Formats: sequence, structure tokens, C-alpha cells
Amino acid sequence: MMRAGFFIRKINGSRLLWEVQRRARSIAPAIERCDMKDVDSESQHVRSFEDIPGPKKLPLIGNIFRFLPYIGEYAEENLVNQLLMLRDEFGDVVKLEGLPGRLPGVFIFDPELCQTMQRLEGTWPVRIAMECLHHYRVNRPDIYGDQVGLATGQGKSWQDFRTKVNQHMMQPRVVRSYVTQINDMTVEFMEKMRVLRNPDTLELPGDYINELCKWSLEAIGIIALDCRLGCLKPDLAADSEPQIMINSVHDMFDLMYCLEIKPSLWKLYNTRKLKKFFRTMDTINGIVIKHIELAKKKFSEQANSGQTEERSVLQKLLLIHEKTAVIMAADMFTAGIDTTGNTAGGLLYNIANNPEKQEILRKEVMSFLPDKSSPITPEILEQTKYTKACIKESLRTFPIAVGSLRTTQTDLVLGGYQIPKGIGVVACYSVTALEPAHYPRPQEFIPERWLRGNTEFPSAKKAHPFSYMPFGFGSRTCIGRRFAEMELETLLMTVIRHFRLEWHYEPMKNKSKYINTVGAPLRLKIIDL
Ligand code: HEM
Repeated sequence: MMRAGFFIRKINGSRLLWEVQRRARSIAPAIERCDMKDVDSESQHVRSFEDIPGPKKLPLIGNIFRFLPYIGEYAEENLVNQLLMLRDEFGDVVKLEGLPGRLPGVFIFDPELCQTMQRLEGTWPVRIAMECLHHYRVNRPDIYGDQVGLATGQGKSWQDFRTKVNQHMMQPRVVRSYVTQINDMTVEFMEKMRVLRNPDTLELPGDYINELCKWSLEAIGIIALDCRLGCLKPDLAADSEPQIMINSVHDMFDLMYCLEIKPSLWKLYNTRKLKKFFRTMDTINGIVIKHIELAKKKFSEQANSGQTEERSVLQKLLLIHEKTAVIMAADMFTAGIDTTGNTAGGLLYNIANNPEKQEILRKEVMSFLPDKSSPITPEILEQTKYTKACIKESLRTFPIAVGSLRTTQTDLVLGGYQIPKGIGVVACYSVTALEPAHYPRPQEFIPERWLRGNTEFPSAKKAHPFSYMPFGFGSRTCIGRRFAEMELETLLMTVIRHFRLEWHYEPMKNKSKYINTVGAPLRLKIIDL
């Protein structure tokens, strides 16, 4: 009641409009430079934005009913299937409008159009997403100052930050220096898997995906905070820091989904979920800042005792500025856990469900790791072609991001339609990567299509280069890509060296969260080798 009363008072006092505008200003930072150009404005046959086909909105309720359980045609589908349905019904350019609190969005399904769109993104590509996170960050100037980081930053401020951190996150040499630590942590994770599985059925528990997310959280702790968070320890107490971190990261993703994807009024007033989101982010940032303080002490002691190890990512970021280290760590915690954890889930499922491919993979793994105790090294990771092909193929059939989002910075024409400035356009790579014209037998898991010199299987060599971009494109591409690939290679090789994987259930379905996630209980059967 109180909440409703508060809401109505604001409307009556005409503060509502002011509040919406104020938040909109803070959420959608000014598109500072118009780098995108008109593609074919000269064209005679340009149709208007209104003409773009898409589900028709109804008066007052718009299109929201189409996504409501029981009545909506898209309700029960995951994100990729929803996109496939839109493409099949409306074609290569589709407009979705009439969703509360959101501008219309445009989805494109033709790799040529995806290429055109991405090539037009300019030097400061704009991607307005995760608006509740941006709202949190601009409301925490003590932590973020005038830099909100990569995930939600735009324009020159985004580019300044990205330029500072890029080399420390993306240089292969930097990533290689973490292989040993990630390997040791992953070997520990094998013990955890043994403990977790049912001793009679040898199956992992239904919520095994959460364990994989703990594994990727532990990896981000190593990379971003230079420490072991302790998330893999058994029997964590409810009030222990690792358990609080695990719960907070879980809540962060759930709340982002509720605030951003589900209908929500958070842009109008401080909803209960928005307040919880702020508290959750404060908890995560509190732990991050505490560990950065501890790491600073450790580094200064090491320096005093004359130790001269190669500098870690955190040390290098601290040398730029402490804020830079904190903000980059916050971005890694936002973008590097569920993404890698769910990709790992999809990957292990694909391997378990394709025993022949698993045997080929095992042959490669055994040749590099003759014993279970043989360590994975950077030199080994340079040569594991089939392992890499399995990861590529798994990201094709089970992509985490449904596509690459760009917000138009100027009016433009795409696919024969006018698209105004400020509209979100999604290049739907999750759909183009399933196109038989580019990937014959698209539903099958065929790692061989990524191997050079393969003539036996359908090859990805002839596919359109803008049909598969699981990590995005251009200067705004995923900054954690190389770390994610190294983590996944290490996990896959270690699991395959320790266990034979089996899958005895229906094909696994994807579930739509903020990203595409593992849907079914991940009851993999693991048999010791
Ligand atoms: C398999 C795992 C992952 C996948 C599939 C993935 C995918 C993506 C995609 C599609 C984007 C958007 C790119 C674009 O707009 O063009 C992105 C951005 C980003 N990712 Fe990842 N990611 C993964 C893991 C990671 C990890 C481990 C980290 C951190 C260590 C990370 C940090 C980021 C950040 C900070 C951005 C924003 C970059 C910017 O806007 O400048 N990601 N990721």
C-alpha cells in the first residue's frame, strides 16, 4: 500500500516525468560523437522505420502479452528460439516494440547486414545495455568517480578506460602467465567433482552448473584480485566470505534479469529489487576492495623482500591507478563468471553427448598429458587444435550471447529501412551461426569443421565471416576472451584426462537469463579413467 501511495504521490506531484528524465540521462549517456554513417541514404527505395516488420503491438499493452506465460507465443522459448521465430516470421530485419520501459529494438539476421552494421560502429561503438548496473555505478561516485568501466561506459570515457587496460587483459603473454594457477585450481575442482557425484549413479547433481560458476568465480578471483577466494572449499559456512560472494554474484545476475529483461518499474521509482541490487553490488564491491587492499600489502612486502616475479594483472592495473584496478575487477566479476561458467556447462554437455568426438579429444589430451598429474602448460595450450575446435563448435551450438548489440549514433539506413539514432540494433550471431548455408548440418556438434585441412566434414572455412562472433566484434569485443578461452581449454583437458563423460537424458535445453544459460539439470555421469 505504502509503495503504491508513494508512486501515486509522485505522479500527482508531476515529479514522475522529472524522475524518468533524470534517470534516463544518467542511464543512457550522451552519444557523444556521430561515427555511424548513412549506408545508402541515396537509395530510392528506402522504407521508413515504421515499415520494419515485426510483431504488431496492441494499444496500451504493446507486445508484452506475447512474452507472458501460458498466453504468449514466445513465453516458453529460450532467447535463441525467440529470435529464430522472429526471423522465420518476419525476415532478415525485424523490429520489436511495445515492451514497457524500452525503446524499440531491431534484430538483423543476414551476415551481410551484420557486417555493414558493425563496420559502421566507428571508433567509439555505443552499446547501451545493463542500464541498472550503469545506474548503480553513477550513484557510487566514491568507487567509480567519472569512470563507469567497460561494461556500461560509452564514448570517450569508455575509450580512455579501454585503452588503459586493453594490453593488460588481452596480451597472449599475460594470459599465458596464469595457466599454472588456473591449472592447479582446476585440478582441485576435479576432486570436488568426485565428492559431488552420487556414488551409486556416478552422476553429478542437478545444480552442477552452479559449481561450474563457482569454478569460474574462483578463476576471476585469481585474475582480478590476485588471490584464491576459496569458493571451491567444501561445506562453506553460510556466513563465510566465499559463500557470501557466491550468493551475491548469483543474486546480481538474477536481479539484472528481473530489472532488465522482465517488465519492471525501476526507472520510475526505487523498486524493492533495485534496492536489493544496490545492496548486492555494494557487497561484491566491498569484498573486491578488501582483497585489493590485501593484495597491495602483499605486493609491497614482496617488493621489500626483493622478490621480482613478473607483475600480475592487478599489479599492472594498480600502477595505472587504484580506481582502474577496482573498476576493472568489478567488470570482470560482472562479465566473466556466468558467461564462462555456462559456456563450460554447454561444452561438457556437448562432449558427453558426442562420445565419438570425446574419444578423438581424449587422444589429443592423452598425447599432451600422459599422466593425470601432468600439468597443462602454455606450450601445450598452443598445440591443442582439437580442444580449441571443440570450444569453438560448442560456442556455435550453445552461444552465451545471442548477438552483438550496438546503439545507432546517427540516423542510418540498414537493409533498406531507416533506423533513427539511439536505437539498439542486434546482429543475431546465435541465429546466423545455425544457418545451414554457412554451417551444413548446423544442429550437429562437429568440431572438425574448424580444423584446417579437413575435407571429410562440413567446413566452416566457407562460412560468412560475420556469421559467427561469440565474443562480439571490433574495438568493443570481449576483453576477457583470451582468459575465457584459456580457462575453458584448461577445464576441458583436465576433465577429459580424469573422467569419461556420459549423458543419459533428453537433449539439454538452453534457458534465457540475461544471457543464454544451461537449462536442464546438468546430470553428467563422470567415470574415473
Ligand atoms: C565464454 C565466455 C565469454 C563470452 C562468450 C563473452 C562474450 C562477450 C560478448 C559477446 C561481449 C560483447 C562484445 C561486443 O559488444 O562486441 C563481451 C563483452 C565483455 N566481456 Fe566477455 N565473454 C566471456 C567471458 C569474459 C570474461 C572471462 C571476462 C573478464 C575476464 C569478460 C569481460 C568482458 C567485458 C569487460 C566486456 C565489455 C567490453 C567493452 O565493452 O569494452 N568476458 N563478452
